[in-house]
Amino acid sequence: MALKPVIIYCSPAGTTRHVADVFEDSLKRSGFDVFVLDLGTRQNHDPVLSKIKEADQDLCLFIGSPVYVSHALPPVMNFISNLPELNGASAVPFVTWGGASSGIALYEMGKALKEKGFDLAGAAKVIAVHCMMWRSDNPLGQGRPNSEDDNMIQNLVSQICEKTDLKQGIDLSVLAYQTKAAHAEMEKVSLEKAKGHMPKREIDENLCTQCNICSDVCPADAISFSPYPEFGSQCISCFNCVKQCPEQAIIADLSQLEGRIRQRSEQFKEQPLSCIYI
Ligand SMILES: Cc1cc2nc3c(=O)[nH]c(=O)nc-3n(C[C@H](O)[C@H](O)[C@H](O)COP(=O)(O)O)c2cc1C
Ligand code: SF4
Ligand code: SF4
Repeated sequence: MALKPVIIYCSPAGTTRHVADVFEDSLKRSGFDVFVLDLGTRQNHDPVLSKIKEADQDLCLFIGSPVYVSHALPPVMNFISNLPELNGASAVPFVTWGGASSGIALYEMGKALKEKGFDLAGAAKVIAVHCMMWRSDNPLGQGRPNSEDDNMIQNLVSQICEKTDLKQGIDLSVLAYQTKAAHAEMEKVSLEKAKGHMPKREIDENLCTQCNICSDVCPADAISFSPYPEFGSQCISCFNCVKQCPEQAIIADLSQLEGRIRQRSEQFKEQPLSCIYI
């Protein structure tokens, strides 16, 4: 099969990158050249956009995002909406989620891809440790993704590679797996609205050495220095800066957050499992 795979993802805490790596290894083992772009770095998008246009109908775009507040991340959705029309190309959206709810991220990615002319060759949701619960002793999704989750992704790639016609993929309705009521509730929430209720971050100027590490690990390029770190509006609330500051100079009280996350998990009762759609 003439298949030109391109993998694009955003992964503030590294789990979606792990899944992207499993896709990449599996595709390479099946003999394909793979082009990869991490949207969370300052990597230039032009070479990958040229690859995408060049591949035309042979393109198979594997595109991944973590679930944030029931949706895919803005940089991923923006990337899809900036793509040219690609009638007849195929795509495989995938998400990682932290055991609260996988939301409507896969559905919205699939819908946006279809609007660009893609057929959906498959899709996957992968359960992962909840990246906001790193201070917890028993975070939701602890130990995931594990080797069984990786096998599931390898299996998805094998099944895609075995297909003679990627157009015979999945229907978008397969990705609308939430109940109607939950779907409607999730349409109303967003990262932008949730940002107003996120724990505040404050810089302890006595501890900060202005080392720049927080800015280097920020996937949204949202930190500027004046002379201490300041957070810009493009911040996606991943808390990488808080986690990775070597001086613990970014103070944030996450004690209320854990309860809120567990409450959402109770509310939606989504089985904490990975799933492939093919
Ligand atoms: C701001 C924010 C919002 C999140 N919202 C959800 C959510 O709605 N449902 C869920 O199950 N996990 C949620 N998570 C957890 C992530 O989806 C999960 O940890 C994911 O695997 C992180 O991917 P990454 O390691 O590639 O960054 C959220 C995490 C953050 C930081
Ligand atoms: S990583 Fe910490 S110490 Fe370094 S500049 Fe950022 S806040 Fe300051
Ligand atoms: S400023 Fe911090 S919380 Fe915001 S996107 Fe950057 S690393 Fe994530």
